[in-house]
Amino acid sequence: MRTSFKTVAKGLDFDSFPMKLWAKAKKYGIWDPAAIDFSQDKKDWDNLSHLHKLFIARIVTQFQAGEEAVTLDLLPLIMAISKEGRIEEEMFLTSFLWEEAKHVEGFSRFITEVIGEEIFEEAKKDALVPAYQTIFYEVLPNTLNALTTDASPENMARASVTYNMIIEGVLAETGYLAFNQTLEANKIMPGMVEFTAKLKQDESRHIAYGIFLLSRLISENGPSVWDTVQDQMQKMMVLAAAQIQQGDDLYDDDNMPFGLVKGAFTTYAQDQFMKRFARIERARTQTLAEINAETVLV
Ligand SMILES: [Fe+2]
Ligand SMILES: [Fe+2]
Repeated sequence: MRTSFKTVAKGLDFDSFPMKLWAKAKKYGIWDPAAIDFSQDKKDWDNLSHLHKLFIARIVTQFQAGEEAVTLDLLPLIMAISKEGRIEEEMFLTSFLWEEAKHVEGFSRFITEVIGEEIFEEAKKDALVPAYQTIFYEVLPNTLNALTTDASPENMARASVTYNMIIEGVLAETGYLAFNQTLEANKIMPGMVEFTAKLKQDESRHIAYGIFLLSRLISENGPSVWDTVQDQMQKMMVLAAAQIQQGDDLYDDDNMPFGLVKGAFTTYAQDQFMKRFARIERARTQTLAEINAETVLV
């Protein structure tokens, strides 16, 4: 039974970090993926070599499946936050889920309107490499769905590390780098460049929420959550690095598309990982008030 309403008893905590994120989401998260113009992208696409088309199509396939996965798998976390009556966090999470749904839509449009069936069929055969499947078919749904039966701080930490720190904070960010070094560097496909810029902005709020959530869990629950975070970060980084490596392995050493260098994405992913790790570690000595005041967009 419910015994009170926070907004009636105390009012919304407008100074909390989730409310700051909610304010940003209302301002910057209102773009429409249906309004992006992919017509120049289609012209640029037609001029690409088969190798380049396949590279872009594989990255897009990974993003498409990943966005669907995070849209489907966020609900148990929202449910757990709701059950704890954390209204400010749930308000932000409504925008979070809506944004993931928009990301699914944008990639789906690009596949239909730019990539086309033939290359997409070819890309699909090997884009979701074995480590990708372990992460997105098993670990992500399992860690999130665990919250439906036991939303302990340790389980929440495991879910958030997987979802926010590794999938959003390491893998998606590495994917943007791939777009940056191929599309932006060659000044092609302005629609996709515009779409990923919006996406990146949305994701920076999602990652910031993950940092806030993990920091709060560590601050409130102490060493057992910190141990869980460390353990899950390390296990997931092994999988993330394997996924990037298996992506590199799809290309011959002397024939990387767009002049990319093998191993460069792995180095970038490791840097992202270290950044996230260092940020969360600070929560070990912070109070919730300090976390609310100091968490910033990444
Ligand atoms: Fe997304
Ligand atoms: Fe996200």
